[in-house]
Amino acid sequence: MPTALVTGANRGIGLELVRLLHSRGYTVIAAVRTASPALRALGVRVVTLDLTNDETLDALPEAVTEPLDLLINNAGVLRSVGLDDLDLDLLRLQYEVNALGPLRVTAALRERLQPGAKVGIVTSRMGSIADNTSGSHYGYRMSKAAVNMAGKSLAHDLREQGVAVALLHPGWVRTGMTGGTGHVGPEEAARGLLARLDALTMETSGGFWHADGQSLPW
Ligand SMILES: NC(=O)c1ccc[n+]([C@@H]2O[C@H](COP(=O)([O-])OP(=O)(O)OC[C@H]3O[C@@H](n4cnc5c(N)ncnc54)[C@H](OP(=O)(O)O)[C@@H]3O)[C@@H](O)[C@H]2O)c1
Repeated sequence: MPTALVTGANRGIGLELVRLLHSRGYTVIAAVRTASPALRALGVRVVTLDLTNDETLDALPEAVTEPLDLLINNAGVLRSVGLDDLDLDLLRLQYEVNALGPLRVTAALRERLQPGAKVGIVTSRMGSIADNTSGSHYGYRMSKAAVNMAGKSLAHDLREQGVAVALLHPGWVRTGMTGGTGHVGPEEAARGLLARLDALTMETSGGFWHADGQSLPW
């Protein structure tokens, strides 16, 4: 049985990733701040993880001792920060969760990643500099651009270990983050993300893709 760990697994895209992986026969570890009833109903193992809390991050290697075949850094936060109101707390929060979070989780679980394992980072095309045609959203855009860079470095640093890394945009998805607006539901987004991870190889490691398969510009 392959084993997968998914962060931000209590709702939205993360919950659907857990549901799909569970139905595929994976042993799934859901890393969450608080388990939702929907997550609990799936009966998967739950570990506590708050990406703003050093204690839960430090405890991760002891909480997760089994070898991992798949690590999906999905947890993220979107807070609107415009030029007229540069709320430093909100800028820092998004950097901590969206950029430092996936890096810290991957580093903490590095020893658990088997040769052939894959790491997915759910980023956003809002972190693409080439694709930024409308501005604003400072904390979110900057934090996702930063995690894109982290993912690229991880692809280099984990290559020797035989671990491939993908940076993945899920599409515009109807979740709490978007207030229920979007082009696709969380299940379709999760399906697309898993298809990209299925297709990921050591040769393509370090790429940036939309869940629908198109390659995205940095
Ligand atoms: N929805 C979209 O259109 C869209 C587009 C591009 C990229 N994305 C990315 O897709 C990922 C999933 O987003 P979503 O749409 O499913 O959003 P969501 O429904 O708002 O879910 C966000 C998840 O992240 C978790 N999270 C937030 N802050 C956390 C923290 N400090 N520590 C640990 N977990 C934390 C949340 O847990 P709590 O329930 O505890 O808050 C929740 O499980 C994010 O990385 C997001 O940036 C989404």
